[in-house]
Amino acid sequence: MVSIYPIVLYFTLLINVILAEDYIPTDHILLNCGAFDPKVTDSDGRRWSSDNGSKFLSSPKGSFRASATTQAPNVGKVPYMSARIFYSNATYSFPVSPGRVFLRLYFYPNSYSRSNASNAVFSVTAGSYALLRNFNAFQATQKHDVPYIIKEYYIYVHGGMLTVTFMPSTKSFAFVNGIEVVSTPSIYDSNDVGANVVGSSVPFQIDNSTALESLYRLNVGGNYIAPAGDTGLYRSWSDDSPYLLDSLFEITNVADPDVKIKFPKSLPSYTAPADVYTTARFMTQDSMLNLKMNLTWLFPVDTRFIYLVRLHFCQMLSNIDKVNQIVFNLYINGQTAFPEVDVVALTNSNGIPYVMDFVVIMPITKDPQQDLWVALHPDPQDKPQYYNAFLNGLEIFKINNTDGSLGL
Ligand SMILES: *[C@@H]1O[C@H](CO)[C@@H](O)[C@H](O)[C@H]1NC(C)=O
Ligand SMILES: *[C@@H]1O[C@H](CO)[C@@H](O)[C@H](O)[C@H]1NC(C)=O
Ligand SMILES: *[C@@H]1O[C@H](CO)[C@@H](O)[C@H](O)[C@H]1NC(C)=O
Ligand SMILES: *[C@@H]1O[C@H](CO)[C@@H](O)[C@H](O)[C@H]1NC(C)=O
Ligand SMILES: *[C@@H]1O[C@H](CO)[C@@H](O)[C@H](O)[C@H]1NC(C)=O
Ligand SMILES: *[C@@H]1O[C@H](CO)[C@@H](O)[C@H](O)[C@H]1NC(C)=O
Repeated sequence: MVSIYPIVLYFTLLINVILAEDYIPTDHILLNCGAFDPKVTDSDGRRWSSDNGSKFLSSPKGSFRASATTQAPNVGKVPYMSARIFYSNATYSFPVSPGRVFLRLYFYPNSYSRSNASNAVFSVTAGSYALLRNFNAFQATQKHDVPYIIKEYYIYVHGGMLTVTFMPSTKSFAFVNGIEVVSTPSIYDSNDVGANVVGSSVPFQIDNSTALESLYRLNVGGNYIAPAGDTGLYRSWSDDSPYLLDSLFEITNVADPDVKIKFPKSLPSYTAPADVYTTARFMTQDSMLNLKMNLTWLFPVDTRFIYLVRLHFCQMLSNIDKVNQIVFNLYINGQTAFPEVDVVALTNSNGIPYVMDFVVIMPITKDPQQDLWVALHPDPQDKPQYYNAFLNGLEIFKINNTDGSLGL
């Protein structure tokens, strides 16, 4: 008798794994910039190749390799302990099949022989997009209180070649520790109708001409998911608690073992790992208290851009499987983005993931940065069984502006 529970749990996990089919990328390049060793494995078990003598770097003149002087705690050896330093413009050319790719740039602003990368200021382009403008990786890490920074972009590659160019700013230099290119299905592109724009009835089309920069990817109410734990797209998912407005909502929930996550036909199983859907953040157990509050997250963003916000929902509690048990309103920047969200009504059952996309235009203010906020509030109108609200996952992307730029 004692062993029944663990067996059931194991069985559930097994089903999750089988149902969540991983995507197998056609192209996957992991370039360990400035590394001595031709091939090395990182702590996540991924194999990186050195860019020394690499076919991807057309003109290595004006650049050199260097090793980091110090290694801060929690900074992996690969790809962070080596870098390529550029004192003139340099281009990497990656042959990839036409379609969407994730481009990831890894930066660890350490001291590299005579070049203190904390002072490096540079721009980076990919094809016709300006990804970074007068970027200082040290300031970026200081701002987020992290030792290194990974910039991730979702780009459409025409003609089978992705070119990434590093351009030092005047009297400065550029550096990079690692470059990753991985092909991906068009999972963030709009369907024919386009994405809803909050506060407008005119939809927005995310198509092949759109480049996205990933800003936030959260496993709401859950734990960090490393790239190896993603669905073959090598994204990472972090904990949502730093973005929560009110620490009262420490309430998280994990799926009942007998609720299995089943992706509907309309949603590919590589959309997000099943782990994103088996955890959620709820409001408190006190319905009356919940009516007086909003469950709110705040995300600092640049003012002069448009954003794509994707919300992941899945009702994973076994006792919530009927319509009108939990109904809530979804607000973005104080406007109703979706009224009366009843996840079970949208999916016909519990255990079924559901995704909503919204395009958000930030109000013009004097401040170059402001908070994009997402809030949930129980909707008492239809007298649902519980006054509560929940969210399983959230992603926020910056959309390139009219001149193809993602930098300020
Ligand atoms: C880089 O590659 C060249 C040959 O392609 C080799 O001569 C050189 O030693 C390599 N440098 C390092 C630091 O591995
Ligand atoms: C690098 O490229 C930029 C943009 O094309 C150009 O303005 C700049 O002069 C180039 N720098 C050098 C050193 O060639
Ligand atoms: C966008 O990419 C898809 C997939 O490669 C392709 O079928 C479609 O024709 C492209 N659309 C445009 C407008 O380039
Ligand atoms: C590198 O520059 C940063 C910022 O200017 C400074 O704090 C740091 O001490 C420098 N490191 C070295 C090794 O000179
Ligand atoms: C929740 O947010 C909405 C939208 O900004 C606002 O109208 C409402 O007053 C808020 N409710 C509470 C209880 O804070
Ligand atoms: C994004 O950049 C492309 C290429 O410059 C451009 O065609 C497109 O209109 C831009 N998108 C937006 C929303 O401005």
